[in-house]
Amino acid sequence: PNLDRPRLRSSNQLLPQASSYKVAILGAAGGIGQPLALLIKMSPLVSALHLYDIANVKGVTADLSHCNTPSGVLGFTGPSELGNSLKGVDVVVIPAGVPRKPGMTRDDLFNINANIVKTLVEAVADNAPDAFIHIISNPVNSTVPIAAEVLKQKGVYDPKKLFGVTTLDVVRANTFVAQKKNLKLIDVDVPVVGGHAGITILPLLSKTRPSVTFTDEEVEELTGRIQNAGTEVVEAKAGAGSATLSMAYAAARFAESSLRALDGDGDVYECSFIQSELTELPFFASRVKLGKKGVEAVISSELHGLTGYEARALEALKPELKASIEKGVAFAQKQM
Ligand code: NAD
Ligand code: LMR
Repeated sequence: PNLDRPRLRSSNQLLPQASSYKVAILGAAGGIGQPLALLIKMSPLVSALHLYDIANVKGVTADLSHCNTPSGVLGFTGPSELGNSLKGVDVVVIPAGVPRKPGMTRDDLFNINANIVKTLVEAVADNAPDAFIHIISNPVNSTVPIAAEVLKQKGVYDPKKLFGVTTLDVVRANTFVAQKKNLKLIDVDVPVVGGHAGITILPLLSKTRPSVTFTDEEVEELTGRIQNAGTEVVEAKAGAGSATLSMAYAAARFAESSLRALDGDGDVYECSFIQSELTELPFFASRVKLGKKGVEAVISSELHGLTGYEARALEALKPELKASIEKGVAFAQKQM
């Protein structure tokens, strides 16, 4: 281990540094991008952080680069610098795109964000074909299938390395369940499966760890709150955008998990929206084990032994999720 480089833990204990990785954020100057960049800058596993956006990157880069954490920070602005922002990168996180305003669904963002994701993923395919790709831009249920098609067209699609980031649904489920049941937050773990919009977000409350029991009313209330939590923030922000801070926190957790997996940690599990054979749908969010090569295993056991409520909700979400996936695929194929 390289003892020159301190490794920061939550306790602020200094530990020897493990291997380190390069991370790029595309959309780095935005509401999610900025706090996400800060959180990733704090990771002991990152040696270089590349910030790409179409505007305002210079200031964010100068600002962040003054933090005395190990990683270097480089800024890249505009399409002419996109390729260089991706060279040699291990993990690419994509929060580029427009957010919702009150009254909009995530699907209302499709027309703008589909093109943004397509263009960015084409550049990833050309410049960092082996990287883990984390898609945050909405509608995730369609943008991930778009990314998959783009990567296929470029001949570099590895389904084990393409992730729709649904960590915020898990973060919210953990928070709301802990509050409702008076549990210690750090202990609570609720798997969330399906997709990332409305009823396609399906928290499996019966699989909560530690084991807890819920009344039928609690299940309905918690499920509804978790499914609606994005809208709760959109309405509270009243036109100024959607979740950014909690999203940055969730994306940083997913990035750190990916980096730990790349670094050889054999005990990394996260929920994510991926190409999947767990159901008849081609993409589905579930808990997965992450390894050096991406998804190492899909944890299918969590879909067994569902409650009647969960089983019905799973069937009910499939038509919407299927339609969103097909919309993404059709968009990408039309552009060929
Ligand atoms: P924002 O408007 O604050 O920031 C978006 C950034 O993307 C801006 O800096 C903008 O310049 C940049 N951008 C636009 N076009 C680009 C392009 N072609 N290349 C590079 N950068 C580009 O929005 P935000 O609040 O950060 O949200 C971003 C996206 O994340 C939205 O689509 C939102 O719906 C989504 N989101 C997803 C989740 C999730 O759980 N997956 C959670 C919250 C938000
Ligand atoms: C969220 O869940 O907060 C995001 O998908 C943003 C949104 O539009 O709700």
